[in-house]
This record gives sequence, structure tokens and C-alpha cells, in this order.
Amino acid sequence: GGFTEEQETLVKQSWESMKLNVPELSLRFFSTILEIAPAAKGMFSFLKDSDEIPHNNPKLKAHAIKVFKMTCEAAIQLREKGEVVISENTLKNLGSVHLKKGVIGPHFEVVKEALLRTIKEAMGEQYSEEMEKAWSEAYDQLAAAIKAEMKEEA
Ligand code: HEM
Repeated sequence: GGFTEEQETLVKQSWESMKLNVPELSLRFFSTILEIAPAAKGMFSFLKDSDEIPHNNPKLKAHAIKVFKMTCEAAIQLREKGEVVISENTLKNLGSVHLKKGVIGPHFEVVKEALLRTIKEAMGEQYSEEMEKAWSEAYDQLAAAIKAEMKEEA
């Protein structure tokens, strides 16, 4: 067990590369979420009233960036401290926003699958099973922290 330095590097390097193309990355990420779970559309303010996924929507980009970046930060903390540490205010806000929007446990699996598929497409030949495993572990730990907070606030 334990999150290794190599895993941390895989996550950090791939995020550094992917974040150079946030507009495309965020569109791909949301298309995949809706492909897997079309009903999730209604939860997002920027999706619910349009037929297509809006291009260059700041809120859409913000959510995509948050999921990728916070997972990357989780990877760093897992390697440094052995656990994901989120400030109390941030965690409280994450818990209440997702509760209010009607997000439930299985949605986190949808977003995980979309995250991993997006990384695979974006990284192309640089993609590896080790890279997927590192992102997957970091995401699971981050999602667990948010879900625990949602349970507490419910
Ligand atoms: C909003 C992060 C998973 C749906 C947000 C916000 C953050 C965030 C930072 C903005 C909070 C604010 O307004 O202050 C994350 C992270 C996730 C995650 C890090 C996973 C690790 C999910 C999942 C869903 C979801 C699984 C549902 C499929 C939403 C919705 C909003 C939101 C609907 C409100 C966005 C809007 O309509 O403008 N999330 N989220 N999130 N999140 Fe997530």
C-alpha cells in the first residue's frame, strides 16, 4: 500500500500537460459524463437549459478544472501525508453544494469514469495503466472525503 512518489509524478505530469488545453479537456469531460449518465444534465446550471454542451462556458470549465486539480492535489497529499487533507471550510462547502444539487454516491462513479476516459484520450501514447491507477486512487480518496461530508450534512 501507500501512494508512491512515482504515482504522484504520473498524476502531476499528466495534469501539467492536460491543463494546457482546458477548453477541449473540459468539453470532453462533460460529454463523457452525459454519455454515461444523460440524466446528470439537469443538475448543472450551465447544462440544464441547453441542447448542446456550451463551448467556453466559465462554470463548465471551472468544474472540470476543480475535479482534475483537486484530484492532483489529493495525489500530492496522499504521497506526503498518507491521506487527503481538505480545509474545513472547503470541505463544508463541497458537501453542501453537492447535497443541494442532488448529487448522490453513484454520480461519483460516473465522474470517475469520465475523468479516466478523458485522461486516456488526452494523454494518448503517454497514457499507461500505472497512470490510470494513480489517478483512480487519488480520486477515490478525494470522493470519499466529499461523500463523508455530505453524509454528515444530510
Ligand atoms: C459544484 C468540485 C464531483 C456536480 C462544484 C464546485 C466544486 C466541485 C469545487 C463549486 C462549489 C461552489 O460553488 O463553491 C467537485 C469535485 C468532485 C465533484 C472535486 C469530485 C472529486 C461532482 C459530481 C457531481 C457534481 C460527482 C455530479 C455528477 C456538481 C454540480 C455543481 C458542483 C451540479 C454546481 C455547479 C453549477 O451548476 O454551477 N463541484 N465536484 N460534482 N458539482 Fe462538483
